[in-house]
Amino acid sequence: MAYAHIIGTGAWVPPRVLANEDLERIVDTSDEWIIRRTGIKERRIARKDASEGTTDMGLRAARSALQMAKVSPDQLDTIIVATVTADHLFPSAACMVQKELEAGSAAAYDISAGCSGFIYGLDSANNASRSGQADTILVIGAERLSSVVNWRDRSTCVLLGDGAGAAVIRGNDAVGGILSTHIQSDGSFWDLLHAVEGNDYLPESLSDLSTKPYVLTMEGNRLFKQAVGCMARIAEQALDKNGLTINDIQLVFPHQANLRILQAVSERLKIPMDNFYTNLQKYGNTSSASIPIALDEAHREGCLNPGDHILLVSFGAGLTWGATIIQWSA
Ligand code: ACO
Repeated sequence: MAYAHIIGTGAWVPPRVLANEDLERIVDTSDEWIIRRTGIKERRIARKDASEGTTDMGLRAARSALQMAKVSPDQLDTIIVATVTADHLFPSAACMVQKELEAGSAAAYDISAGCSGFIYGLDSANNASRSGQADTILVIGAERLSSVVNWRDRSTCVLLGDGAGAAVIRGNDAVGGILSTHIQSDGSFWDLLHAVEGNDYLPESLSDLSTKPYVLTMEGNRLFKQAVGCMARIAEQALDKNGLTINDIQLVFPHQANLRILQAVSERLKIPMDNFYTNLQKYGNTSSASIPIALDEAHREGCLNPGDHILLVSFGAGLTWGATIIQWSA
């Protein structure tokens, strides 16, 4: 059976920086509060009029990953985009990327699994690769959360940012690559993090439709506790499944939600924070893009060596959570 290997990574974030000091002029907050409670210093905000929509960002990350992998778009069998902020309700962001890349007739579809979307995407890619259904797969996490943020809600708008990351996966017989993927959900907690509006079965007035934004709402405290427990438990399952211990893991790539969540997960897993790759201070929480952006940064910084075991672990709206262990081979 072939193993699914990551053979290229890429990322792209919009150039516009929104620092904590800038947010002080938008809501009643302070740089000191945001850093102390979240670890976030600044985030990137896309300009749609500058071709920085979700598809555009995903496309830039994808091109970078394809270039590293030395794969041409027409070699792709499947394109998966993890996103909750596609530019259109339909068609999918993946089809828009497929069109822009001119990726032959690659299958293309989106995954909606909140911040766990990239790991859900890796799960699909791993299964397709191992079963022989697809050889070369592009998985993208791309989000323009600024389009759904409630910019009057200081408890959420300080957390989130825009960006995209991508990975090219290809099967081969060399042992390694994605060792296992683990994904779970619990819809009974859906209301801890969701988009209000857009849920009317029958709009009262069709003319109102275009003015109805989808606005993100979150119960931060309850989510915090769920995030820590779910991430720690699924990480332990992934370790057990592969007969590995924490000592075998060189680097952890957590969903970059909040530094305090990561510190709590680190304590639960007894993996030191030094082994957690974090870049949330620069980008905030970019949902499904956060792990592939971090992975690409670490890869390009030379933090990953062939043979290293890395743990990816995430948690997000749904609720969804997931983990994967990868024996790095890129
Ligand atoms: N600036 C200043 N004060 C603030 C801000 C802000 N940006 N936001 C909230 N406050 C205030 C609150 O109003 C409250 O004031 P009060 O005591 O007068 O009522 C006080 O700070 C404390 O509020 P809490 O909500 O208890 O603050 P907490 O320490 O829990 O931090 C936070 C809030 C950062 C949202 C935290 O709960 C958290 O990080 N939760 C997880 C959120 C998260 O990361 N979600 C994403 C993970 S899942 C995913 O990525 C999909």
